[in-house]
Amino acid sequence: MSPLPPRHIAVIMDGNGRWARQRDLPRSAGHQAGMASVRECVAGCLEAGVGVLTLFAFSQENWQRPADEIDALMTLLEEYVAQDGDELRRQGVAVRVMGDLEPLTPAARAAVDQIQHDTAAGTALLLNICLSYGSRAELVRAARLLAEEAVAGRLRPGDIDEAMLTARLYTAGLPDPDLVIRTSGEHRLSNFLLWQLAYAEFLVTPVLWPDFTRENLRAAIEEYMHRERRFGRVRAGT
Ligand code: IPE
Ligand code: IPE
Ligand code: MG
Repeated sequence: MSPLPPRHIAVIMDGNGRWARQRDLPRSAGHQAGMASVRECVAGCLEAGVGVLTLFAFSQENWQRPADEIDALMTLLEEYVAQDGDELRRQGVAVRVMGDLEPLTPAARAAVDQIQHDTAAGTALLLNICLSYGSRAELVRAARLLAEEAVAGRLRPGDIDEAMLTARLYTAGLPDPDLVIRTSGEHRLSNFLLWQLAYAEFLVTPVLWPDFTRENLRAAIEEYMHRERRFGRVRAGT
């Protein structure tokens, strides 16, 4: 049993396309509908006292989707910043965006900068948005940073340990996710937080992302609190 609520929840927000297809709508309508679930999750984390929420919004591999779908997703990001920025600040939510932001349009980059700047003082919840994110690329980036520091003579390769690599990930300084939720029934990580999820509890729900509510989040937290986390050890008393 894990009597404490999760400190950090990560979510693979999946199923928007299937939600739209079920309604004969374009995929972009599914992404639009999924924004309500983002708001539900933020509210649910604030209610439950979860300190960090990390959402997988757009993977590096998602750049291979049709251009009109990518455009729709980037426009949604800009709308989210414009519509929710004030409310997030009022709620005490600090937003951080993680990923390779190089390929983003200038408007999307500006939206990212604005939301990070405007919410920087938030202390109630840290909302990480993984955008243009790939875990393998994040690990390669960390390896490169370590190599550069070694070449510059600031560290010795033999001294590199897990903590030093962890400190060069986008998630540096944060606790690892305790719970990772994937919606829409797929049982895979899709290149999400491979290092950080080493001991996370995995919960797959058949609910499609646009149908995911704070009640679903509450139920996921409840299930997490009934899991027994062993971290490779044996259970006390056995
Ligand atoms: C998740 O929904 C959103 C993104 C990956 C951007 P999908 O668009 O993957 O929806 P499905 O998996 O096709 O239903
Ligand atoms: C993972 O979903 C990425 C996000 C939720 C942003 P995908 O729908 O892209 O993953 P696959 O293709 O099913 O593995
Ligand atoms: Mg999908």
